[in-house]
Formats: sequence, C-alpha cells, structure tokens
Amino acid sequence: MKRRDLLVGATALAVAGATGYAWSQRGNGPVTDVASRPRLGMPPLLDTRDSGRLELTAMGGRTRFFGRNVSPTIGFNQPYLGPTIRMANGPLDVAVANSLQFPVSAHWHGLMVPGEHDGGPHLAISPGEVWRPDMNIDQLPGTAFYHTHVHERTATDVYAGLGGIIHVSDGRDDERGLPSNYGIDDLTIVLQDRQFDGEGRMVYGFSMMDQMHGLTGDVMVINGQIGAVAAVPRGVSRLRLINASNARIYPLFADDGRPLHLVATDGGFLPAPLEVETVTLSPGERVELLVDFSDGKPLTLMSGGDPNQGLGGMMGRFRGLFDRMIDRSFPVLPLLVDEKLPVRITSLPDDLGGELPNLPSAVRTRHFSLDMGMGGMMGGGMTGRGGMMGGFGINGRSFDMRRIDIEAERGSVERWIIGSPMLLHPFHIHGVSFQVVRQRGQQPSAENSGWKDTVLVGGETEILVRFDHPASREAPYMYHCHILEHEDGGMMGQLAVT
Ligand code: C2O
Ligand code: CU
Ligand code: CU
Repeated sequence: MKRRDLLVGATALAVAGATGYAWSQRGNGPVTDVASRPRLGMPPLLDTRDSGRLELTAMGGRTRFFGRNVSPTIGFNQPYLGPTIRMANGPLDVAVANSLQFPVSAHWHGLMVPGEHDGGPHLAISPGEVWRPDMNIDQLPGTAFYHTHVHERTATDVYAGLGGIIHVSDGRDDERGLPSNYGIDDLTIVLQDRQFDGEGRMVYGFSMMDQMHGLTGDVMVINGQIGAVAAVPRGVSRLRLINASNARIYPLFADDGRPLHLVATDGGFLPAPLEVETVTLSPGERVELLVDFSDGKPLTLMSGGDPNQGLGGMMGRFRGLFDRMIDRSFPVLPLLVDEKLPVRITSLPDDLGGELPNLPSAVRTRHFSLDMGMGGMMGGGMTGRGGMMGGFGINGRSFDMRRIDIEAERGSVERWIIGSPMLLHPFHIHGVSFQVVRQRGQQPSAENSGWKDTVLVGGETEILVRFDHPASREAPYMYHCHILEHEDGGMMGQLAVT
C-alpha cells in the first residue's frame, strides 16, 4: 500500500476504481495521458453589455459527471452551474426566476452593490417567484462569483450547482495587453471538489469530519467536468481561477515549477504582474494568473493538500511537520498547447493600470473571533437542516437573521482584526473591497496584496474596510466564513451601513 492510500477513505478508493480520476490513483507526478482526455469546456458566455439586461432562472436538471449514472443537480439557466455573465459599469436590469421547489437567492459575491441588491439571505426568492433588482454596476473590472445564499441551505445548494462566474469588464484588456479571448486564451476555471458514490453519482457526505471541517471531496470537478484537459494557444494565457468549493483550500502551483504571474485578486487588477511560485485560493477567493506557454510545453496545475484537512487538520503545530512527511499534492488541471489556436499575446504586460489598496486610517477598530465548538460540536449540537452542526459563531454568537451585529457609517473606514483560534477560515464581507494590512504580524502575501473581499484567516489578520454603499437593517450585508458548512452552521454576522 502506498503511503497516500492511508489518507483516503473507502469511498475514495471505490471512485478511483470507477473513474481513474480520484486523487488516490493519480500519484503526485505530472498527468501523462492528456492527449486522450476530453477538452475543458467553458460555461456559456452571457454578455449583458449591449442589452443592459440579465435574466437567470434557477432550475433543476440531471448531470452525467462520469459513468452511466446521472446526478440530480441545479443551476442557473442550465442543469449545473450557470453562465459566465459579462457586464460593464452602468445600469443592469436583473430578473432572477426560481423554478425550483425551495427558496434560492442570487448573491453577487464581489459586486459593490447596496444591500437591497446584494442577494443575501434576506432576499430569498420563493418557488415560482421572480426577483427584479434594478442594479447599477460601478466598480473596478474583475472576476466575481454569484451563488445562492439562503440561510442553512447555502452549502447543499451551492454543492448541487447553484453558482456561476461574473466578468466585470471595462473593455480595455487589449490596451492592457491581457488575453481576453473567452475560452481560448482567457480561461474561466471554476474549482470544485466533490464526492461520488461507486456508481458515479455525486453525493453530499454527512460525516462528523465533513461538518466540522466543511465538506471536501476527492474528485476535482472543473466547470462541471471531470478529467478534462484545457487547451491553450502557444503564447500567454490568462487563467481566471475561482474557488467555488464548499471548504477546500488549494495551495496552487505548476508541476514544472514554471512561474505564475498574478495579475488580479478578488477586487481587480494589480499595478503590474507579480511573479509567484504558488498561490493559495480559499473558498470564495478569485485570482487571475498569466502563464506563458510560448515554449509549447504542457503544464499541470497542481494543488497541495488542504491545510485544514488530513492528519494535520486538527493538530495545529504538527501540521507543518506532517505536510513535509507526506506529500498530499494532487493534479487540479492539465493544460496543453494546441498549435491550431490563435496566438494573440506573446509577452507579459508591464502596466495593468490597477492600484494597490491604500486606505486612510480607520475611525474605529473592531475585533472578530471565528469560533468553533461552542458547546455544541461534540455534544448534542446536531441542529438545523440535514444534521448541520451547530456550534459555529463569531465572537461567541451564532448567526441570527433578526439581529444586526454591526452598524457602520457609510463612507467611513474601519480596522477589523480577525482571529481564528481553530482551523483556517476564509473571511468574506459583502458589498466592499478591503485592504489586507497584516497577517500574523507580517506583510500580506502576494495574493492578498490587491483589493480583496475574502481573506484566509489563520492566527490574526488585520484589514481596513471602507463602506461605500448602503445596506439597511432589512437587507443587511453579511460577513462570514466562506467554508459553507461553517456559514450555514452560524459563523456569520449581519452588517448594516447607514
Ligand atoms: Cu460568496 Cu456571503 O458569499
Ligand atoms: Cu459575498
Ligand atoms: Cu470557517
């Protein structure tokens, strides 16, 4: 038995036999059978820039991930996930219909819109209803994420497929020298890990560990596909990576050590590309990377093990030790060069026109502690839907939709100091872009140097936030851990901006 096999359960082994794509059988090296694999498809592009209209319908469907069986799934306008929505600044008339039998919402994660347009838990759409916010987009270009956000059903419903990607575009990527040919040299890559039964049906697990750490799977599903390979032209390609997983944190790197050039974080472009070897992406975070394929060589995007999972997960100070002893890395996505694809960009841009956040000093400081296991975790805390674990909270309080936790003044800057005594938690705030000032006493890492709306918190993280848009007490913003099982379990608070 190889040492890796010790780390995966019986389900994983069964799936490995069925698909060949579960990690336990892949080994840690490069993927070798790329030529015979299906090509990675992009979500269909829904360009709203001419019409100024966006119509989405949450619907049910059936998806064949692999093998002969189909899984019941949900999506926007299609059976699993939703279209990539391209939008520009200006008015946008939105209609989101719900054809499902349960409430859904359309939260625009990364859009700087007021609370009444934000699509959070207070804006749930009942079965058969249509939500029609008249929105106005006014922000820096970037890659955002939309998904359902109904309290206590976010984890299961996002898992089943109810999410999609947004490109906010100012139409100036050519000037920046950035690849912008959708699906050719500008790839949208939605990272999700899922669990499957031996018959190829997607399942949502309910183990104690899944609830405590958040649900992770042992099969990578990218843009709804398993085992695909992405094709790129012989030049520079742009990878827009979105972590749409419920809980998995991906420390990403190239198998051949090729440099990755970070050009955008959650909230928009950096001033210039930043060369990195690895970039860590936690749930809710986005990055845009440029990768140079001019030498024609393929590459496999790899991930290290999830720092919250495995042997190290609960063992704080031993984690690093185990990670060095046991290589838990796995392939995420192979990319190969297709000489037939048109080459548009052959060198890295030097000026992206982005800005590093530099907010003025704060009017007040608030402290947040991301808490687990407030009595309920090991005891009788199995409450909520599907046995969802209770016992998650912020500052000792579990989420309550009737309670406004924070009132901030519109236009003001606040310093938030967020601490996490256990595990790593991706901390997200609605309706704002923030600046990461310090992480565990250090300067922010490359992936946290630009504008952010989600930051992975371990130890103490200090951010500066300016509240530019209003959010009433009836339609407040949320701030929460983006491990969806933690969010549904109560690690979320409500923020009004007036
Ligand atoms: Cu992406 Cu409140 O969520
Ligand atoms: Cu959000
Ligand atoms: Cu969490």
